[in-house]
Amino acid sequence: MPTWREEIPTTGSVSLPPDPHALDGLGRNHRIETALADLVDNAIDAAASEVVIRFVQRRGRLSSLYVADNGHGISSELIDSAMTVGGRRNYQNGSLGKFGLGMKAASFSQARGLTVLSRHAEGELNGRRWSLDDLSNFRCHIVPTDFVDGELAQDWGFRAAGGGGSTVIRWDDITGFTVTDDPDRVQTFLSVTISRILDHLGLVFHRFLTRGALRIALDVADADRAVIGAPFEVEPIDPFAYHHTGHPGYPKTLVAEHNGHRVAFNCHIWPGRSKSPNFRLHGGAVERQGLYFYRADRLLQAGGWDGLTAADARLQLARVAVDITDDATGLFSMNPEKSRVMVGADFAHLAEAARDGDGTRVASYLREAEAAYKQSRERRRDRRRMLPPGKGFDPLIRRAISDEVPFMPGEDPIDIRWRRFQSLDLFAVDRENRTLWLNDHYRPAATGNGRGGLNDAPLVKALLYLLLEDVFEGEYLGAKDKDNIAMWQEILTSAARSQHARGAAS
Ligand SMILES: Nc1ncnc2c1ncn2[C@@H]1O[C@H](COP(=O)(O)OP(=O)(O)O)[C@@H](O)[C@H]1O
Ligand SMILES: [Mg+2]
Repeated sequence: MPTWREEIPTTGSVSLPPDPHALDGLGRNHRIETALADLVDNAIDAAASEVVIRFVQRRGRLSSLYVADNGHGISSELIDSAMTVGGRRNYQNGSLGKFGLGMKAASFSQARGLTVLSRHAEGELNGRRWSLDDLSNFRCHIVPTDFVDGELAQDWGFRAAGGGGSTVIRWDDITGFTVTDDPDRVQTFLSVTISRILDHLGLVFHRFLTRGALRIALDVADADRAVIGAPFEVEPIDPFAYHHTGHPGYPKTLVAEHNGHRVAFNCHIWPGRSKSPNFRLHGGAVERQGLYFYRADRLLQAGGWDGLTAADARLQLARVAVDITDDATGLFSMNPEKSRVMVGADFAHLAEAARDGDGTRVASYLREAEAAYKQSRERRRDRRRMLPPGKGFDPLIRRAISDEVPFMPGEDPIDIRWRRFQSLDLFAVDRENRTLWLNDHYRPAATGNGRGGLNDAPLVKALLYLLLEDVFEGEYLGAKDKDNIAMWQEILTSAARSQHARGAAS
């Protein structure tokens, strides 16, 4: 047996910096929307209230992308460490940065050129540029201040924040952009990409957007014609924003302690079959149930049970918000792309121990979420079948009705249409043509200030459908039906006349 020596002898050292190609592989798991979220993180850390993401088109092709913000900017002292891969600074509590990697990894996952241009709140201008094509010796290029000034002076469409700083991150040679200059294909690519970005940023930053701390806009600039398109605003998508809870008694907060650290599980049950974009997240009902981890109000993970239970269609109404902090070390860690939280071995025990004042536990929460789901499906089955709505209804109403109401199979739908009547009656039931006619005379009153059109006056039409649908059913109109129609006609016509008169008076 060889002798075991604890000390390993050395006879000198050689310097071996990493091969520059190591940078090529940074951020492999990013998509453009997750990469952009990382740049928005930096803007938030710099106390920005506005961020503009701008696609630049040159000779038809998509050539560059800018992310500009009105935060405090980067000082001369910090600019070089900001450009350094893994260059960390002193992070304050609540800061979104952590690894000193985000900007570099996000940028090189999408582009071969990264330029950072910044005006610090003190007034200093700084510019640096990395290019993956000439990364010899890790030399970072210095950009002259007049160029920095020019880029910052572009029309970003936002107010300078109090500090007066601003930062522009510019990507060139973007690998993920379509190379075509065919206008239709560029347009399709842009609209698909922009809608993915709006969805992702709206979800990840919904808490900032909802409280009005941040505005994020996207636009497309045509460099040849020097025009900038109208901006798309990122709207918040809040995975916990429903109107009515799906189960009385919820949401509930279940709490557990770990090494003196408190973790709260905010357990929600969505109402059944919601059409809200806050519920219908990209990825689907099964993927989007489960745990939503937030760190400093930024969403890190949208769904998944991390071993607490298995994803199941019957649990699709269950969503749990968990706010994590960096001092719960060992319990949570996030991937460098900040799109996933990894939980430690203790997490399952912690979740099992979590309870509220009434003794509710995760297991009973899951049972109740499942029961709420089953009940919402049964309720629909017991409902009376109706004739479907046809032409004249806004597609959104048709969808809402079809979600709620089971239809009679094989029956023609009810159309709802306007025409000029001889009388001042509001409506006429035309069973033969399965059409509910509305008197054109009241159209301006019914549409308010809104535009007319085939699907106008959605509220009036939806109400009339609910009221009158069943007089279209059956072989003939009974005496009771006729009397009801006469009564509704009297009441609604006088209401319509009164509304019409008010419109004429104003
Ligand atoms: N938009 C910005 N405004 C001000 N400073 C920025 C901005 N973007 C990047 N920085 C600076 O660059 C540094 C490096 O950013 P990054 O690579 O994302 O790492 P991290 O955010 O983890 O520190 C940040 O710590 C910050 O000092
Ligand atoms: Mg960062």
